[in-house]
Amino acid sequence: MKTTLTTLQQRAAQGEKLAVLTCYDATFATLLEAAGVDILLVGDSLGMVLQGQHSTLPVSLHDMAYHTAAVARGATHSFIIADLPFGSYQASPAQALRSAAALMAAGAHCVKLEGGAVMVETVAFLSARGIPVCAHLGLLPQSVNALGGYKVQGKTDSAAQQLLADAQALEQAGACMVLMEAVPAALAKAVTGTLHVPTIGIGAGPDCSAQVLVLHDMLGITPGKRTRFVKNFMEGADSIQAAVNAYVQAVKSGQFPAPEHCF
Ligand code: KIV
Ligand code: NA
Repeated sequence: MKTTLTTLQQRAAQGEKLAVLTCYDATFATLLEAAGVDILLVGDSLGMVLQGQHSTLPVSLHDMAYHTAAVARGATHSFIIADLPFGSYQASPAQALRSAAALMAAGAHCVKLEGGAVMVETVAFLSARGIPVCAHLGLLPQSVNALGGYKVQGKTDSAAQQLLADAQALEQAGACMVLMEAVPAALAKAVTGTLHVPTIGIGAGPDCSAQVLVLHDMLGITPGKRTRFVKNFMEGADSIQAAVNAYVQAVKSGQFPAPEHCF
C-alpha cells in the first residue's frame, strides 16, 4: 500500500513513531523501503555525503532532481521528501514554485525548505497550489555562514519562543510537517505537543513524531568525528539490511534517540 501524507498523519496521530532516513539512490531506496523506513528524504546533505562538498550550499536543483528521480525509481510505495537546495527558493514564492515543481516532477511527494517566519508566505503559496511542504527549523545548514557553524539552536528562552512561534506560523500557512534539527529535547517536545502536524527530529530528542538520520552517518561510514545525535547502527549488525532494520525498530520502540543523543 502506498504511504501517503494522509496515512502518515494518521499513524503519527495514533502515536506511532515514524522512521525516516536520507536516501540518494535507487538501490538504497529499495533496501530502506523493504526494511520499513516510513519516509525517504532526498536531503541536500548529498552535497557533503556524495559530492564531497564542505557544506550543502553548492548543491544545485539539477543535482536534487537527479537524485530524487533515482530514489523514485527504486521505491514503489514510499513517501519521498526532497530538499529545495540553497538559492532555489529564497528569492520569491514564484521561484520556489518553479523549483518545487521540478522536484515533484522528478518523483517527490513533498518538498522541504529551511527557515521560519521568512518562509511563511512561500509555504502558504506552495501549499495552496497542491505542493506539500515540510518546514525545517532549528539548525539550518544552508545558513551555516550566518550561524557561524553547526551549533545547537533554540537554547535561550527568546530563541525557543521564536522557534515555537515560527512552527505555529508555518503550520498555519499549510506546512504538512515540521522538521527540527539540533534543538533541546524539551523545546522539540513542546513544539510537537503544540502542533497538529507531525514533527521530524534530528538531534531534537525522543518526543518528535518521527526521527531522521543521514544514511551514511547511521551506517558509520561518514569520516571524521561523529555528531552527538548520531548512532552507528552497523555496530552489532552483520549487514546493511540488519542495521536499517535495527534503526527502524529502535525508532518505533522509542529506544532511539537515547539521552546521550540529545541536547
Ligand atoms: O539534508 C539532509 O539530510 C537533511 C536532514 C539532516 C534533516 O535535511
Ligand atoms: Na537538508
